[in-house]
Amino acid sequence: MLLVTAVGELPAGRKAGTASPQTAIGNRQSVMADLIITIDGPAASGKSTAARLLANKLGASFLDTGAMYRAVTLAAMRAGVDLNDEQKLLDVIQKHEFQFSDRSGKMAVCIDGSDVTEVIRGPEVTANARYIAAAPKVRERLVQMQRRFAAGRRKIVTEGRDQGTVAFHDADIKFYLTADLAERAKRRQAELQAKITAGSLDQIQKAIEQRDKSDEDRATGPLKPAEDAIVVDTTNLSIEQVVEKLAKYVREKCSKKT
Ligand code: DC
Repeated sequence: MLLVTAVGELPAGRKAGTASPQTAIGNRQSVMADLIITIDGPAASGKSTAARLLANKLGASFLDTGAMYRAVTLAAMRAGVDLNDEQKLLDVIQKHEFQFSDRSGKMAVCIDGSDVTEVIRGPEVTANARYIAAAPKVRERLVQMQRRFAAGRRKIVTEGRDQGTVAFHDADIKFYLTADLAERAKRRQAELQAKITAGSLDQIQKAIEQRDKSDEDRATGPLKPAEDAIVVDTTNLSIEQVVEKLAKYVREKCSKKT
């Protein structure tokens, strides 16, 4: 079972996760948030931090959809199922309770009540998530959950690989963040060094390249900018500059909703 909860942000009379997937998919007006901002992009492009900070700035909920793929990956690994067996993955989703909550602007994740927020960031989960990301029916379930999450909130910033292309076609504003591979490897190394699990820059760069390839090549929900996405190259920008740039676009395009 998948549950999504959030602190604050629920408009009066609306309960998180109450819209049916059908209505959530078909009729933006009646069930979707007033303001939906999507941020997609490759690994280590800075989209997660940018999305979190932008959400804080706008007083919006934040959804890290990668955390959903990671949580299902961890549960499937723990259950010892074949990660290529889509039916087994669906069974894992059915059998366990996954809870995603927006805790002070950070995505907290629990499986069967136990906090796995940090564990899902480990290298094994990171490497195996591509199997889960390639399973079309699993993606469908997760996209349904993402739409339900949005349906229960007034404003949302959601980030991933397919948020502007699949989950929220009619988002108010879509961003696609990118950066040079070498710069992304450097950023990832710095992040990993903080956790004492860093490898060489070369190893990290190769791993990111592999993840890009599997994200771009999958048949369902591949990584690509939506046709109407604003592409932002963050290679030479600090995170503060990225957030300021995104916030400026949002102010210009969605001034009535912010
Ligand atoms: O953004 P991340 O590194 O936490 O993502 C983890 C994995 O999930 C990665 O393999 C890409 C995949 N993913 C996806 O396929 N679609 C999304 N919307 C988000 C993540």
